[in-house]
Amino acid sequence: MKQRKILFVDHAAVLGGAELHLLDIATAYKETSRVFLFTDGAFRHKLEAAGIKVRVAQANQSILNVRASSGLEAFKVLPNLWKMAGQVASAARGFDLIHANSQKAFVASALATFRGSPPVVWHLQDILTAKHFSSINRRIAVWLANNCATRVIVNSEATGKAFVAAGGREELVRVVYNGFDSTPFDRITPEQAQQIRTQLGIKDVPVVGVFSRLSYWKGQHILLEAIRKLPEVHALLVGEALFGEEEYVTELKSLAAVPELAGRVHWLGFRDDVPVVMKACDIIVHTSTEPEPFGRVIVEGMLAQRPVIATAAGGAIELIEDRVTGRLVPPGDAKALAKTIKELLDDRTTAIDLGKQGYKQAKTNFSLETILTTFDRALPK
Ligand code: UDP
Ligand code: GLC
Repeated sequence: MKQRKILFVDHAAVLGGAELHLLDIATAYKETSRVFLFTDGAFRHKLEAAGIKVRVAQANQSILNVRASSGLEAFKVLPNLWKMAGQVASAARGFDLIHANSQKAFVASALATFRGSPPVVWHLQDILTAKHFSSINRRIAVWLANNCATRVIVNSEATGKAFVAAGGREELVRVVYNGFDSTPFDRITPEQAQQIRTQLGIKDVPVVGVFSRLSYWKGQHILLEAIRKLPEVHALLVGEALFGEEEYVTELKSLAAVPELAGRVHWLGFRDDVPVVMKACDIIVHTSTEPEPFGRVIVEGMLAQRPVIATAAGGAIELIEDRVTGRLVPPGDAKALAKTIKELLDDRTTAIDLGKQGYKQAKTNFSLETILTTFDRALPK
């Protein structure tokens, strides 16, 4: 792979899916490239532990705090984004390319092109719908993409379609899925997985795990509702609120406090050992109530060789073929989820087979090596 000099820019320093994906990409270019973050946090430590050079900017808090769904506020932070563009432009001196890994990073990087910085590629990993992005935010980002980006890399066909539907130029778009190394999953022994169950005091019960950050649209409440009707089943809730959604956590905790769920909901918080915790589950569920742009947890569940139940929307339907490599259920439908969980628990042969077929599919289509090649080809020449 030709080593380009890329400045990877991200506004976040938490460990979200887009950041974990960037960790893999930036590792491949670490000899020549650098990551530029708007703030400091756990992500910087992970990057540096992987031997990647990192620079942390002095961002005004308003940039970090403004929500993508806010309207007029977006205009108010533009002057601060313009200042940030200056920092990006100066950090990008001597690089061939800027790769913007988030919407805020893209806006600052696109503005930096007016200040003499190298060409910018937007790696768009969100579905640009009204649910997550205010109309003003979408318009600003799409206008900048159409006029300043040399490429828009998207994490699924669904993300690409939403970009075009929002007015984005189709010829800019290249689809690059997330890629995964199966080794951390392959090396987990049944004993290690059993140990997790022992620690949690759930040795011989059916266990269903959800591995997403706690956020309303990730839909953990749908799983809680589903297992209320399945008295044997325990749920592992893995992940924490990463983007200030503590209200949802409070709501979830009160949902879990009903007597029918007593002792059956296990709060694991953010875990660094997802592969072994997935292997401790009988079923992995993905419960997003809105279209998932890609859904790393779905592919990871497949690599753990567990049957995955995902909601049929967005990128998820590009990852799972229903009843072949996993199961799809309508988003927000607790009844359908409960029914599917029960079916898989009652029919172990089918469940094991779905896990095996899912694993094959994940290894074939989402290997890190293949995805890195696709990523490199997607960059402008
Ligand atoms: N994850 C993790 N620890 C946790 C919960 C999640 O490392 O406690 C990881 C998970 O394995 C996955 C990523 O966070 O790689 C979440 O990515 P996904 O694309 O599913 O969702 P996002 O949060 O990016 O919308
Ligand atoms: C974003 C999306 C998620 C995707 C991840 C990596 O965080 O919400 O669906 O898997 O980026 O591309």
